[in-house]
Amino acid sequence: MIDVITLGNELLRQKSAPVEGVDEKLRQFFRDMFEIMSRQKGVGLAAVQVSSLLRFFITNVPKDKPRIFINPEIIETSIEQDVYEEGCLSVPGVNADIERPSSVKIQAYNEKERPFTLSCENNLLARVIQHELDHLNGVLFIDHLPEGLKRELVTEYINNKKKKAAS
Ligand code: NI
Repeated sequence: MIDVITLGNELLRQKSAPVEGVDEKLRQFFRDMFEIMSRQKGVGLAAVQVSSLLRFFITNVPKDKPRIFINPEIIETSIEQDVYEEGCLSVPGVNADIERPSSVKIQAYNEKERPFTLSCENNLLARVIQHELDHLNGVLFIDHLPEGLKRELVTEYINNKKKKAAS
C-alpha cells in the first residue's frame, strides 16, 4: 500500500518534474491517490506526498467534483487575501492560520491531457489549489509562517512524534 510521507522526509522539499504523458499506469496511480486521500479525509493530495516527483495534484473539496491538475500553473491571483486554518496530511496534527490570495485562476491539464483553466473565487478550492501547488515546488504550508512560530510548531510536531513512538 502507498503511504503518505511526512515532515522530515527530504522528498517533500524537492521540486516535482512535468508529467510527459498520461498512460494507464498513471491513471491507476490517480485512482490510488483518490483512495488514499479519501481514506485519510484529505481535500487535496500532491503526488510528491506519496513519493512521486510528478507535477500533479488531486482535489476533492466539499460541494465540488474530484479534480486532477497536471502541470498546473497559477496565472492570476487576487490582491485581496484571506486567512484560513490549514492542515496537511504530511504534517499530521499541526494546523495554522495562513494568509493567501482569496482568489486564483489556474491553468492545467486534465487526465485526458486536455488543457483547461479554472477561476476559483473566494472559495476553499482556491485555498487548496495554492496549498497543493506549493507541494510541487517543495514548499509546505508552515513555510508561510513567521520563522519563530514555524520553529515552535515543528518542535511540537517532533515531540509529539517521539511521544507516539515511545508509547
Ligand atoms: Ni499538504
